[in-house]
Amino acid sequence: MDNNARENFGSKIGAVLAAAGSAVGLGNIWRFPIEVGTNGGAAFIIVYVGCVLLLGIPIMMSEFLIGRHTQANTAGAYRMLAPGTPWRWVGRLGVLSGFVILSYYSVVAGWTAEYTVLAIGNSFDGKSAADFPQIFSRFVSNPWLSVAWMLAFMVITHVIVVRGVKSGIEKFSKLMMPALFVILIVLAVCSVTLPGASQGLEFLLKPDFSKITGTMVLRAMGQAFFSLSLGLGCLCTYASYFNRETNIGKTALSVSLIDTMVAIMSGFIIFPAVFNAGYMLDRSDIGPSLLFITMPNVFGQAFGNMPVLAYAVSVLFYFLLMLAALTSTISMHEVVTAYVSEEFDMNRRKAATVVTIACSVVGGLCALSFGPFEGVKIFGMTLFDLFDYVASNIMLPVGGMLIAIFTGWYLDKKVVRDEITNNGSLRARYLPVVVFILKYIAPVAIACILFGQLGLF
Ligand code: TRP
Repeated sequence: MDNNARENFGSKIGAVLAAAGSAVGLGNIWRFPIEVGTNGGAAFIIVYVGCVLLLGIPIMMSEFLIGRHTQANTAGAYRMLAPGTPWRWVGRLGVLSGFVILSYYSVVAGWTAEYTVLAIGNSFDGKSAADFPQIFSRFVSNPWLSVAWMLAFMVITHVIVVRGVKSGIEKFSKLMMPALFVILIVLAVCSVTLPGASQGLEFLLKPDFSKITGTMVLRAMGQAFFSLSLGLGCLCTYASYFNRETNIGKTALSVSLIDTMVAIMSGFIIFPAVFNAGYMLDRSDIGPSLLFITMPNVFGQAFGNMPVLAYAVSVLFYFLLMLAALTSTISMHEVVTAYVSEEFDMNRRKAATVVTIACSVVGGLCALSFGPFEGVKIFGMTLFDLFDYVASNIMLPVGGMLIAIFTGWYLDKKVVRDEITNNGSLRARYLPVVVFILKYIAPVAIACILFGQLGLF
């Protein structure tokens, strides 16, 4: 990314929606329901919301203020603020996390593209609940098909990143986010009014407090970082396009609220639908396929006597899911591309190509872990699961902890105050609370949860 002709987001709402576009993605609609389902329903939601409030919002404010202050990408930002110190490793860790997440994220993003095409081709029509698990497993275990869709998604991301996303992202997000909201509300209403929905709501909302264990808290924290796009410098990069009037605290609050609402709403869509369709869910058998075997069935069930509506809603659902995934993959690709381009002195196109090829190779291996490589297990997990676990439960929290320490202890207090209060023009009475959290609470809490789980304490 060059600093010469830096664009800014044109409006406050544009800045919020672009950051929300990075945050809202597969993490909310695909990953959150899986985590809630397997980790004790509302008990998980409570711990999750606690992580968002206590850790997520202050760390998001840190990323925002570092980005806006330096007006640089994440690697450059630490070099500018802490020249010649090991802090540059925070930027590098972020880049590595971005690479790992982008690789396996593109696999699921590829599924959304395949399902968009299936929906457009009206392939769900006339199928029964029993057919969808088969359609899905036939698709993911077909090595060519899932790799091809992953590659297709990577190429679309690549094309947009090469062109530069600044003026694109904002316009795209302003159109897409409200549309996504409307569709989510429509789907949630359809889902909770289905017969048998109460069983699903009970599954979602009945807290199983016996599930609150160290592992569960770690997963809730990992999910919070993942869903809010924290810990790898994505939001830091986006904040470098904020203008001087953007209220960092308010923006962080809005993005976190939007993100959490979308996640919880996804739970309201998915679980009633799952039970309505007659899948007797056990907490242990919820997996990545949840969204792809149950949702196609919901459309048919909910609008059974209105096939046109069933068709339209299913196309819209997968299309918007795909777009939500795309705004997220773009933001991750951007972080890695900017780093490669600067550190290795390459032009943007060449850097993006290197990133795309490397991610495609690793993403290909992840895609194959649902088919031919299903039996290849590392620490008892497939490559896909391992990447997901390590990136969101270890790399992002470590990144978040270092960002908190950097802002709380290393960074000049004046910089923090000036950025949060827009040079004194905002009151921001919450500032001492945020600084206290960044200094003490976030590092200690993350360290305890993380290292406690890794068995280092
Ligand atoms: N937050 C996105 C989602 O929920 C994924 C994502 C985009 C992300 N950028 C990120 C996750 C940076 C972690 C860090 O789908």
